[in-house]
Amino acid sequence: QNSEQNQLISLYDQTAKLYTHVLLNTEMGQPALDYLHGRGLTDEVITKFQLGFAPGEQLLKEFFDEKKIDYQLLRQSGLFIEDQQGNLRDRFRGRVMYAIKNPQGHVIAFSGRILNKADSQAKYINSPETKIFSKGNVLYNFDIARSAIRQEKRAILFEGFMDVIAAYQSGVTNGIASMGTSFTNDQIYLLQRTTPQLDICYDGDDPGQAAINRALDAFGQNSRLKLSVIEIPDKLDPDEYVRQHGFEQFKEIVHSARLTPTAFKLVYLKRDFNLNNEADQLTYIERALKEISQLGSTVEQDLYLNQLAKDFGVQAQDLTHQLRQMRSQQS
Ligand code: UTP
Ligand code: MN
Ligand code: MN
Ligand code: MN
Ligand code: MN
Repeated sequence: QNSEQNQLISLYDQTAKLYTHVLLNTEMGQPALDYLHGRGLTDEVITKFQLGFAPGEQLLKEFFDEKKIDYQLLRQSGLFIEDQQGNLRDRFRGRVMYAIKNPQGHVIAFSGRILNKADSQAKYINSPETKIFSKGNVLYNFDIARSAIRQEKRAILFEGFMDVIAAYQSGVTNGIASMGTSFTNDQIYLLQRTTPQLDICYDGDDPGQAAINRALDAFGQNSRLKLSVIEIPDKLDPDEYVRQHGFEQFKEIVHSARLTPTAFKLVYLKRDFNLNNEADQLTYIERALKEISQLGSTVEQDLYLNQLAKDFGVQAQDLTHQLRQMRSQQS
């Protein structure tokens, strides 16, 4: 069967192989290879993840012209940019290429990272939507991670491709990433079918923390996944943490520094308040109680009520009382 989908998959397969070849075996690829080596990647990992390099010239266009590939197919592939006259030029130039694959392991898109980030250019550019690629459905590395996810009964969700790869090098092989921070039902179902538990391990910086908060809401409302949060210290992202502290310490964090969604929220909420100020303290406590009141189990509620009481030097039973009052007002 040679449907358009299959033809596109074949184009992407050939393209990924070409980009990897350029990266590993050519003079043109040397700066990119040095860059990736400098970030701690070995050739073995580069091959495993099918990383590549798209050079500055029209390499891909020439490659497919020589093979006499149909113009319309090339047009629809998303691998090229079309000018006013209908001429095609390579979309990705001078970028390190991350192959994005479907769950079957076929390359369906790319994300290209600029080698040296200058302010004017986007750090990453992605393939456009095509007949084989819809950005909202991708879980990066799901094809490789699936068996580990099944075995460990948990998946770890990272923000970036490099975080997934660094985790893999550390021996944490159940990592995946989305391409952006909103989630479609397709992604959620795919995960839910594979694992009962999802750990969210986004960047430690402010945007990363805000994205954790959003992801908890998205998965909390739309899935039956049991969620937890892995916090990376010092505003680092997981890849930076691995490079600074090593594989072992990263694994340690992944296995021991897990927060429940509520514990994360109680810390995250604090950002909005100046807790030296009593009025702010009271508002924070109210917001925190609201969060706690959503919990299904009384034991869980008690746990956080006691923590909150200790935190602010108040009586746990007063907080329990206030919580009951809030509840009766709600109903
Ligand atoms: P980050 O800015 O945290 O990038 O964006 P990163 O993964 O740490 O990349 P490195 O380490 O600098 O190479 C996280 C994710 O957001 C998406 C990408 O999927 C990226 O991996 N992103 C980011 C884009 O799509 N476009 C951008 O310009 C930036
Ligand atoms: Mn090198
Ligand atoms: Mn980030
Ligand atoms: Mn990052
Ligand atoms: Mn990074």
